[in-house]
Amino acid sequence: MAGLAQREQSPFDLSSEAAYQRWRERKLEQAPRTINELIIEVEDAENLSAAEHAALLACCRRANMAIYVNRKHDSSKDVARNVGRQFGLVNLDANWLADEDGVTQITVNSEGTRQGFIPYTSRPIKWHTDGYYNSPERQIHAMVLHCAQSAAEGGENRLMDHEIAYLLLRDTDPELAQALFAPDAMTIPGRMDEDGVARLAQAGPVFSVGKNGVLHMRYTARTRSIEWRQDEATLAAVAMLEKLLDSALPYIYRARLEPGMGLLCNNVLHDRAGFRDDPDRPRLLQRARFYERIAGS
Ligand SMILES: [Fe+2]
Repeated sequence: MAGLAQREQSPFDLSSEAAYQRWRERKLEQAPRTINELIIEVEDAENLSAAEHAALLACCRRANMAIYVNRKHDSSKDVARNVGRQFGLVNLDANWLADEDGVTQITVNSEGTRQGFIPYTSRPIKWHTDGYYNSPERQIHAMVLHCAQSAAEGGENRLMDHEIAYLLLRDTDPELAQALFAPDAMTIPGRMDEDGVARLAQAGPVFSVGKNGVLHMRYTARTRSIEWRQDEATLAAVAMLEKLLDSALPYIYRARLEPGMGLLCNNVLHDRAGFRDDPDRPRLLQRARFYERIAGS
């Protein structure tokens, strides 16, 4: 069976040690040593040249992420969507708090429906991948986070390629990595999500492999409103993951998005530091989340 043969060669399959070792070697060889290797200056992010597009895509192929620095800074909210479109990202996840066009404006809201939900405050946000509370058919595979205005102080992101997280877990103990593939590894109880939307309980895996053989990760370091599968391997895997993300590993990058800069990624692990706003120029990030991965990455 072709499907079976393909599965046997997946580096994300515990039984295919040779495929894993080949993938692992290449992944580590290509992994950026510093965030600078992932930062690409572009003339106009909404109309990338072939060379700029290729440079951003090369970063995404290595590390599932790239940061563009737009010389033509334009705070129009279409930038995130238009950057995505150039990488085959067209199916936007329109969550409840997104505007009609599916792009979410992330800024501090002291009133209205968004009030009190962490993304719309200046508080830190723990490590996560986007849309971990979405149903299986609405999982987020890519996103663009475009900075229209940075905070007066703080608001940095830490970033980690989710494939590296898998690799480090599997190197530590293959059984731990495997435990996180369980279809009920992580359950979000039916209540409110981070954006304040009422939802049914969502059970699902942390790691899954899509039809195209790519690894997807669904994760949050939140400790409230999360139910982990209560078995030894799952709990040990979660503890190990927390430890990895809390370490000073060279694979954890730090970046502060300044106006005109943006993160293009295959929904990698990220967090956000708390920040302090200048009341006259509050931090504003425009976020577009997509159901597909960056084309060609
Ligand atoms: Fe996020």
